[in-house]
Amino acid sequence: MTFSTLDDAHLAGKRALVRVDFNVPMHDGQVTDDTRLRAAIPTIEKLRAGGAKVILLAHFDRPKGRWVDAMSLAPIAPALAKVLGHRVAFAPDCVGKDAAAAVDAMQAGDVLLLENVRFYPGEEANDPAFAQALAENGDLYVNDAFSAAHRAHASTEGLAHLLPAYAGEQMRLELSALDAALGRPQRPVMGIVGGSKVSTKLDLLRNLVTKLDKLAIGGGMANTFLYAQGHDVGASYCEKDMADTARDIIRLAGQNNCKLFLPLDIVVAEKIAPGAPARVRHLGALDDDERILDAGPETVERLCRAMANSKTLIWNGPLGVFEVPPFDKGTVTAAKYAADLVKAGKLVAVAGGGDTVAALHAAGVADEFTFVSTAGGAFLEWMEGKELPGVAALSKQNKR
Ligand code: 3PG
Repeated sequence: MTFSTLDDAHLAGKRALVRVDFNVPMHDGQVTDDTRLRAAIPTIEKLRAGGAKVILLAHFDRPKGRWVDAMSLAPIAPALAKVLGHRVAFAPDCVGKDAAAAVDAMQAGDVLLLENVRFYPGEEANDPAFAQALAENGDLYVNDAFSAAHRAHASTEGLAHLLPAYAGEQMRLELSALDAALGRPQRPVMGIVGGSKVSTKLDLLRNLVTKLDKLAIGGGMANTFLYAQGHDVGASYCEKDMADTARDIIRLAGQNNCKLFLPLDIVVAEKIAPGAPARVRHLGALDDDERILDAGPETVERLCRAMANSKTLIWNGPLGVFEVPPFDKGTVTAAKYAADLVKAGKLVAVAGGGDTVAALHAAGVADEFTFVSTAGGAFLEWMEGKELPGVAALSKQNKR
């Protein structure tokens, strides 16, 4: 896919409507993780340097088309100003006279954040009239919200058809990193997919086994695969009704020459509690009250060897209950090993999805991976091989 980028745009004096993803974790009105704010800075700076007026559009949470004060973007403006090192004004609406007045007051290089676009039902409905109302405040549209690009909403999709549309810097970075991992990877390419449910990652697993040379399955979903192969899973979390599906995926992997890595050994305990007594077990020897909570050392060692023999790694989902030590050990060991391979220039490692990023932070290696996506759901849909409407709209625009 080809896109217009900010390098192609005439910016001086223009009102740039920029869709960003400021759906950030908040506690007591404070941003607790500003990764997504920092991700927007290169685009904002580039627009300011070019003399544009930077008008930011974003959503926060899921107000479902109603005005919910607790979901206002107002507290984001000072948090962004701090990261940007420049004043960020806030308008208490994203369309209508309040938004227009705030935009009219702008000078070149100013930054303005508009109120939550999801306060209007037209946003999620991708209503053309709402998209048009947003477009009134812009001369050009920049989409820098890869992590919201799986939504076909007015501010992520509709606007791209109404104004000259450009991919922002973060969007560009995400797309090129993801292309390097799954579109045109250096082979062998390996995947690690963890998390609890096979049922939520079915499309993803089906797509990955057709594209990857190796796929390691970890976390709760590995239990379902073990059960499908006839292994005892004790009291572990397991989707027993997905056993046939798991066997289908194993078959599909075989047909596509994708080597599957399932656990060889496991870490078990009776309960998920910090410091709970954990034991390493080989498959097939579980007590009725034992639960599988992490990958065992042999499994992790085999994964590390497989990574060392790969050129590209794509990672989504932890190998165990990483939030509760000691069940973080498998994930942390594998993540550190991958980071070492990246540092040695032997591996391109790309990771994404909510839990994954938290797990890499917990392992202290998030900054050492080649690329860590800011996206949760969009990363998953992209791994499933789906077209993301926000991305497609940018590229279609270029074909006109
Ligand atoms: C995210 O946080 O993944 C994006 O901002 C999308 O949010 P949504 O799932 O509410 O659409």
